[in-house]
Amino acid sequence: MLHLAQELINTYGSPLYVYNAPTLRETIARITQAIPYPRTHLHFATVTNGNIALLQIFQQAGWGLHANTPGDIYLGLKAGFLPSQIVYSGSNLNSTEMEQVLTWGVTTLNLDSIAQLQLFCQVYQTLAGTEHTIPRLGLRLNLPDVTGDSRIGVRPNEFPEAIAIAAAAGLTISGLHFYRGTGTNATPAFTQVIDTVIDTAQTLPDWQYLDFGGGFGYPYHNGKVAFDWPLFGAELSQRLSIRGREIDLIVEPGRAAIAGCGTLLARVVSVKWQDSKQVVGVDTSIANLAVLSVHGGYREIITCKEDREVTQSPLHPTDICGNTTYSRDYLGKNCQLPALAIGDIIAILDVGAYGYAMSSHFLHRPRPAEILLDNSQHKLIRQREYYSVLLDNQVFN
Ligand SMILES: Cc1ncc(COP(=O)(O)O)c(C=O)c1O
Repeated sequence: MLHLAQELINTYGSPLYVYNAPTLRETIARITQAIPYPRTHLHFATVTNGNIALLQIFQQAGWGLHANTPGDIYLGLKAGFLPSQIVYSGSNLNSTEMEQVLTWGVTTLNLDSIAQLQLFCQVYQTLAGTEHTIPRLGLRLNLPDVTGDSRIGVRPNEFPEAIAIAAAAGLTISGLHFYRGTGTNATPAFTQVIDTVIDTAQTLPDWQYLDFGGGFGYPYHNGKVAFDWPLFGAELSQRLSIRGREIDLIVEPGRAAIAGCGTLLARVVSVKWQDSKQVVGVDTSIANLAVLSVHGGYREIITCKEDREVTQSPLHPTDICGNTTYSRDYLGKNCQLPALAIGDIIAILDVGAYGYAMSSHFLHRPRPAEILLDNSQHKLIRQREYYSVLLDNQVFN
């Protein structure tokens, strides 16, 4: 670990996002195998990570993409996905964006409101005569007992109106999209609602597909209970099979698929002691890993030292602080780590999801590079930014 981390930082600089391709492929295979239902299509939620090289690993594994925004679709197409492999399940597009999505050729769209459906149908009709495939439309579900207090979705009592709006444009509502809420490791929260979701979908006369959207958790704490994919996959497959209809199943894992393959490496640049607490400054910032300050939560931080040093050194309460004076610039608080020295490398684990994707230029720190590790090979998959990026699009008068 130490030698590899040193080699990577010496080659590409610090801080550095590192993605482990074998870990990603194993996770993809594990999730894929967990759902035996024969008409299953797995779609990676690009919102969590939009790096083209990583998207291509999903594509090579036979997954499609779940797009939250037109930007997700754009990245998916650039990564080589066919429009038919991209499912759009987002919110609040304007008519120009609707037209763009249709022109790109995306054929499966799960819409969030009656107003979005109306707008979609208008745009679709204005494009009549141009060459585009007939879209497959679904509704995102809002069922307070199941989806909780959510801004997303259409209630079942609105289904008849939705069906009529689609029919007037020569379209049918053939899908139901269900989103459980974000990052849940409690598998029963998913399995207990399967029947209700399927019963609701069956009220759509032309029901052909169920999109069981994201929200699948990832166990960020070492040893914390993980989402039980085999249990979920078995129950969902069994319930769909007994309904006696040939329904397509779309499943959209995001963080569950990508979180574990990503690590952010950083170097220690300062150490001070406040009584028994070690206050460590590193050459990265919360702006490079914004998810902690936005979503909260925890990412395991380890030190890249010789194994002997790690096992034999006493541990100290440690705060890992970013390279700004922003008062919330902590990468980790109250970690238990050995005494660190300037030049040591730390690794922040499980940052593959919402890591680089949520990084920003807040604090005016350029973003790190990203690299892909494939067994003993490594390659650059995104350039490090330099200060010039802070001038992009600024107008000097
Ligand atoms: C519809 C949908 N599917 C999947 C995802 C990814 O979910 P998660 O963050 O739980 O992995 C999201 C996240 O925004 C989403 O909105």
